Amino acid sequence: MPLVLGIETSCDETGVGIVRDRVLLADAVASSVDEHARFGGVVPEVASRAHLEAMIPTVQRALQTAGVTLNDLDAIAVTSGPGLAGALLVGVAAAKAYALALDLPLYGVNHLAAHVAVDVLEHGPLPEPAIAMLVSGGHSSLLLVEDVTKTLLPLGQTVDDAAGEAFDKVARLLGLGFPGGPVVDRRARDGDPRAIPFPRGMLTDPSYDVSFSGLKTAVARWVEKHAGPIPVADVCASFQEAVVDLLTAKAIRACRDQGVDHLLIGGGVAANSRLRALAEERCAKAGIVLRVPRPGLCTDNGAMVAALGDRLVDAGVAPSPLDLPADSAMPVELVVA
Ligand code: KG4
Ligand code: ZN
Repeated sequence: MPLVLGIETSCDETGVGIVRDRVLLADAVASSVDEHARFGGVVPEVASRAHLEAMIPTVQRALQTAGVTLNDLDAIAVTSGPGLAGALLVGVAAAKAYALALDLPLYGVNHLAAHVAVDVLEHGPLPEPAIAMLVSGGHSSLLLVEDVTKTLLPLGQTVDDAAGEAFDKVARLLGLGFPGGPVVDRRARDGDPRAIPFPRGMLTDPSYDVSFSGLKTAVARWVEKHAGPIPVADVCASFQEAVVDLLTAKAIRACRDQGVDHLLIGGGVAANSRLRALAEERCAKAGIVLRVPRPGLCTDNGAMVAALGDRLVDAGVAPSPLDLPADSAMPVELVVA
């Protein structure tokens, strides 16, 4: 069974995973998130530099954890896109160097397809077709997964901010720090989700698209106009409810319309406790099987890239050329560059 090393550098996580036949052997992650905190968002040049510094130590850590050496590897997979151009370049250049030096096949893979493929490590083969909802700081997409090694069809996406970006912006305006998702999630536990009726952007729109910029503005206005101390927990709970209500409603509708009974949720926002609970509740009611990887596999990591690489090798998909690009706008329809 082939041993696949996966490298992920599309944003602020340097991830290196090692997978053999759907079994995760190592998942090493070095994050530069602390370096971005004072800017309230990821600074691309800072992220690229951090990837450069973390790359080789993170690969070595993964090899050590898996108890293997570079010479044991059978294939290299790397995120080719989408993501931050400079950040992607570091991973792609490293992957090319390893592939060339070790004379191994190289797979330049789509970051979104990798978010879908990672679930196989935890829950086994994903029945296809399935609907995947990927929600993070960089993306909010609803996809029809016909075959994760071949075809992912975009059904809808955000028309403005990504879901995680909305969490980060609202946290910033409440002075809660960066990244905003985890702290809003925590503060919301003591709040009333019905306290403030925030808007659900595009909820009744027939498309599968979503919008969060109106919601973010509504929160800002409400906070601005509110006299007296801000009830932070209620604002967090009401904002979070608006986001997860909209996301789950669109995802369930997509499953129903497409006649699909498996829903997979991935990306950093999939760690949100209320999103998990509401999705669970609505899927149960609709007879849909919900699959959400554990939080560590939902955020960006190398395991997801190795997991997709492993599936590609297994499916006999042809590797990428050695001059494969770092493609910041890689279309989701393209699984392998
Ligand atoms: O997938 P990820 O690690 O990186 C990319 O953006 O690709 O996702 C990070 C995003 C951030 O916007 C963060 O605020 C959000 O995921 N996030 C959460 C939670 N944990 C992380 N959002 C809501 N609730 C959470 N518990
Ligand atoms: Zn991601």
